[in-house]
Amino acid sequence: MQKHHVCPWWLTYTFDNPLRRLFHRPAIMFAGLVKPGMTVLDIGCGMGYFSIGLARLVGPQGKVLAVDLQQRMLDTLRRRAARAGVAGIIETRQCTADRIGVKGEVDFALAFWMVHETPDQAAFFRELALLLKPGGKVLVAEPKFHVTAGRFQEILADSGRAGFAVAAGSAITFSRAAVLSL
Ligand SMILES: C[S@@+](CC[C@H](N)C(=O)[O-])C[C@H]1O[C@@H](n2cnc3c(N)ncnc32)[C@H](O)[C@@H]1O
Repeated sequence: MQKHHVCPWWLTYTFDNPLRRLFHRPAIMFAGLVKPGMTVLDIGCGMGYFSIGLARLVGPQGKVLAVDLQQRMLDTLRRRAARAGVAGIIETRQCTADRIGVKGEVDFALAFWMVHETPDQAAFFRELALLLKPGGKVLVAEPKFHVTAGRFQEILADSGRAGFAVAAGSAITFSRAAVLSL
């Protein structure tokens, strides 16, 4: 188990600001992974930059479950989603550090810059494996400035012990990333 640190709400503004749309483009990042009508999970959603992008991709027939430890993140997400006109597509849930706590199954899950903050990564992936529909995919991205290449390999190894395999690499700015499937 690694020492973990949870990103405080105020630090989120250092990367989740208007410049972000220049280098983290949901339509490109999730191309081939997310389609209209899907149910998707955004774990450690923070203030919802990707939840909103995912909501636009799944559309009104789809659903985004946005889950975070911090209620303050979820409150900001709800305000942003309302401004973006996608509030009806996004359900927010507060979770605990050791349980995602979502019921049902999803077509796709995003864990963006959050796995290194979880207290038990192996347990995280074991729970995630139970939430994924057959054929479902997970995109895991970790921040290069916090997570070394070696540490990212350890995270992938933990996912492997939960039954995941790397289906594809993923080139995401400032990130080490992979698409996983069961
Ligand atoms: C660096 S922020 C990234 C936020 C968001 N994914 C983004 O890219 O804008 C990490 C987020 O993960 C959340 N988090 C940390 N540990 C978590 C856990 N065990 N379960 C769920 N969320 C967690 C934090 O509260 C924080 O909102």
